[in-house]
Amino acid sequence: MSADPIRVVEVPLVDRSYEVHVGHGAVTRLGSLMPVRARRAVVVTQPGLDIAVDPGIAHTVVEIGLGEAHKRLTTIDDLCRSFAAAGLARNDVVIGVGGGMVTDVAGFAASVWHRGIAVVHVATSLLGMVDAAIGGKTGVNLSNDDGTAAGKNLIGSFWQPSGVICDLDHLATLPEREQRCGRGEMAKYHFLTGDDLLAMSLTDRVARCVEIKAEVVAADEREGGRRALLNYGHTLAHALEASTDHGLAHGEAVAIGLAYAARLARELGRVGDDRVAEHDRVVVDEYGLSIELPQPSDPDRLLALMATDKKSLDGGLTFVLDGPNGVEVVPGVDPAAARSALATMP
Ligand SMILES: NC(=O)c1ccc[n+]([C@@H]2O[C@H](COP(=O)([O-])OP(=O)(O)OC[C@H]3O[C@@H](n4cnc5c(N)ncnc54)[C@H](O)[C@@H]3O)[C@@H](O)[C@H]2O)c1
Ligand SMILES: [Zn+2]
Repeated sequence: MSADPIRVVEVPLVDRSYEVHVGHGAVTRLGSLMPVRARRAVVVTQPGLDIAVDPGIAHTVVEIGLGEAHKRLTTIDDLCRSFAAAGLARNDVVIGVGGGMVTDVAGFAASVWHRGIAVVHVATSLLGMVDAAIGGKTGVNLSNDDGTAAGKNLIGSFWQPSGVICDLDHLATLPEREQRCGRGEMAKYHFLTGDDLLAMSLTDRVARCVEIKAEVVAADEREGGRRALLNYGHTLAHALEASTDHGLAHGEAVAIGLAYAARLARELGRVGDDRVAEHDRVVVDEYGLSIELPQPSDPDRLLALMATDKKSLDGGLTFVLDGPNGVEVVPGVDPAAARSALATMP
């Protein structure tokens, strides 16, 4: 037996639980995740990924464009035409092979084709494995006429996959910046649970992240309460992504957002200096990420953007913050505290 065997994590949902296979070589399990009645598959992927998959049934490969600009409804329209051309029927299956963008788009297309057919994800980016491919949120951006995003993930559905593969061998070709983005989300899981993920083997680490997300999603599939905890570090992160016109990538922004959340919690008397230092140590020293605000940063703009965050109730400031009871949702945060905490950022 291999030193680091493939792990199977179950996402326990009430009526349709599914398995996530994590490990080196896990893609060989793809055939076992095909719905029994599926006769045909369409594999949705991106150019340049070059990841061979064998679902064990007849299949056609379709590529979508690279980059968020292609995460839009016209791509779904194109995909559905490909599904029709491939003869994809009610009992058949879509397979998303790629990072979060591919799995979001493939999942959404599967959720509307014939009013919903099965989808299996082969997550190939670290962020896809520990976050995007798990949990059933799918969608595309609302786009302007010129293709730029007018609202991220505004058009979408909840559509759980029938199974997910996280083959760690696929990470070998993932660019360093994308690895960093995945580490930003992993650092988040560290604070949600206190787990020392970096002490684990890569298989155990990714499997544990999947487990943490699965546990939160199972408790709250459609995001009323607990699922909001997954937004730890994300309120400032979303504001930074918008204010830098996505010059900062999501995971990079989350790293800064985690350091900020700790400082805001301290400003509100929820944690002390030690907890702030712990956030900085973990994010910077362990996960190798920067917590410096991009310069120049306009505090007024960041505060305004944070007030429009989708978690916020009635335009007030809502954050996910650490405290004596662990990480929890904190509504009605005083804008003055949010501003002071920004001023203490490196
Ligand atoms: N549904 C959810 O719950 C959820 C959660 C988080 C993020 N997302 C979405 O996920 C997307 C971001 O995902 P991402 O960070 O994976 O980015 P991505 O899918 O855009 O991938 C980043 C780049 O890496 C490339 N890539 C992927 N795997 C590779 C590999 N193994 N080798 C070489 N290159 C590879 C991609 O082709 C792309 O160019 C966003 O659209 C975001 O909205 C969704
Ligand atoms: Zn995130």
